[in-house]
Amino acid sequence: PQGATLSDLAEKINVSAANLVTVLFHLGEMATATQSLDAATFEILGEEIGWNIKIVSAEEEDRALLQQFDIDLDAEADEENLESRPPVVTVMGHVDHGKTRLLDTIRQTNVIKSEAGGITQRIGAYQIHVTLNDIDRRITFLDTPGHEAFTAMRARGAELTDVAILVVAADDGVMPQTVEAINHAQAANVPIVVAVNKIDVDGANPEKVRGQLTEFGLVPEEYGGDTMFVDISAKQGTNIDKLLEAVLLTADATLDLRADPTMSARGATVEARLDKGRGAVATVLVQQGTLRVGDSIVAGKAYGRVRALLDENGNNLDEATPSRPVAVLGLTSVPTAGDLFLVASDDRAARQIAEKREASERAAQLARRHKVVSLENLKEQ
Ligand code: GTP
Ligand code: MG
Repeated sequence: PQGATLSDLAEKINVSAANLVTVLFHLGEMATATQSLDAATFEILGEEIGWNIKIVSAEEEDRALLQQFDIDLDAEADEENLESRPPVVTVMGHVDHGKTRLLDTIRQTNVIKSEAGGITQRIGAYQIHVTLNDIDRRITFLDTPGHEAFTAMRARGAELTDVAILVVAADDGVMPQTVEAINHAQAANVPIVVAVNKIDVDGANPEKVRGQLTEFGLVPEEYGGDTMFVDISAKQGTNIDKLLEAVLLTADATLDLRADPTMSARGATVEARLDKGRGAVATVLVQQGTLRVGDSIVAGKAYGRVRALLDENGNNLDEATPSRPVAVLGLTSVPTAGDLFLVASDDRAARQIAEKREASERAAQLARRHKVVSLENLKEQ
């Protein structure tokens, strides 16, 4: 892999990077500590200092670790087992433009009311059964925060999604986090449907929003572009059916919405927290396979046996199939949002994977803190 530097090596073998720069210099190679070097250079350097150096990325290292426990990250779904799955739709946009209100209207809930200051501070994940006109489908929705502080959550939301709904308030127009959301979606190669919201408000100007978004490559179909725009009022429930139709059309036209429910379950940790009564609670999105109560799972450095799976309404589920977001209870610690979760063969394997990840991270940290051993000392040891 590219990118390995003398600093990286110094960290691993616990010497100073400056020392390695000097050794390499004496071998006739000029390099800085942070410059990435090829495998051949590392080999020559390794011979000189008595180390057998093999370059693997952290990713490869983890892949190899998982292989020891019979988990194959590259396992592909069997074409024969592919079944259609609900689309994952992420609602994105500037703060207060009406993302949560839109989902409340679709779900007929009142999540806004429970939010501190009406500001979303976490990723909400819901699967709903939409029955509207001709539509009878399940859709998984992710609600993201619009506040500027939550860039990482927006990026994560964009990465997990099939289609993004970009909510823009018609009385406010394109704002900084509107632009940020577009960038995340485009970076993740996710098609965007624009919901021009708050058309019930005095001074709402949906046409202006269309004009503004054209500058970001979102050209409305009615202007000859290929982005669907739907004018809505989340508050009054106007055109919500049209919006959902546009989202499903976009999903069906551009994506292969299938997954293999028979595979070993895997997916993404959407968010995780420590609950006073229930311990670690991780909201995960199943992407392949079927997650079941009793499965031994590992997510980053967290592991445990699934004690319960809860849907968005707090109801117990026995299993979760692809595209289903569920709260997982039973982990012994809190994983990091974004961590991939995997099913291991048993509790012991899950624990060992987590512990090995923890150990290699700790080793790297320790080495960073004690960059004091010189090469001379090292050779003597
Ligand atoms: P963050 O999650 O903090 O980014 O905000 P948000 O985009 O989720 O906005 P939210 O849904 O919380 O709505 C913000 C305010 O706008 C609330 O008071 C909503 O009731 C109001 N609102 C949302 N949609 C509409 C609408 O269509 N019309 C009107 N008049 N008000 C709306
Ligand atoms: Mg919100």
